[in-house]
Amino acid sequence: MLGLKLPTDPRWVNIAEKNIEEILTDHAFCEQKATSTAISLIVSFPEYTELVQEMVALVKEEISHFKMVHDKILERGWTLGRDRKDEYVIALLKFFPKGGSRTTQLVHRLLYAALIEARSCERFRLLSEALKDKKLADFYKNLMVSEANHYTMFLGFARQYGDRKEVDKKWQGLLAYEAEIMKKLSKSETIHG
Ligand SMILES: [Fe+2]
Ligand SMILES: [Fe+2]
Repeated sequence: MLGLKLPTDPRWVNIAEKNIEEILTDHAFCEQKATSTAISLIVSFPEYTELVQEMVALVKEEISHFKMVHDKILERGWTLGRDRKDEYVIALLKFFPKGGSRTTQLVHRLLYAALIEARSCERFRLLSEALKDKKLADFYKNLMVSEANHYTMFLGFARQYGDRKEVDKKWQGLLAYEAEIMKKLSKSETIHG
């Protein structure tokens, strides 16, 4: 249901499991970036009232996810490290040309957000199925459900605010591009790496 065209190489979970500290650190910053994205959409598109209302709710949810991951780090006696570069997101954000109308720019940002949520959701599912630490596996199962809802919401807003046919075409193009990026990934202990 996520539309992803290339599943993650299942060996990624083994890499992830060997370095939970790295995964949790990277994950915490994914939640921080999700929070920042929601705030940024409010700042950039204040006239889209329904979007603003949903982004307020999302800010609260994503920052609560950040706290949950942070607590997992503290539980293990660790301290949150510095943010890591997300090569996946850097590559992804090159797909749509810059500029265009405000609506076009909004649609592009919503589609990027939908895809990042979808891939995060897939990664959380893999972690929830494979981690031997059952508490941590359950934690990822709950987050997987939240991120699936965010994926649906962002894609829904893109279709609502843009031209439906055009949005669907762009979405398919972005999915194909993302599959190409993924061919080179699934090799490191980060949420999208
Ligand atoms: Fe989240
Ligand atoms: Fe999310």
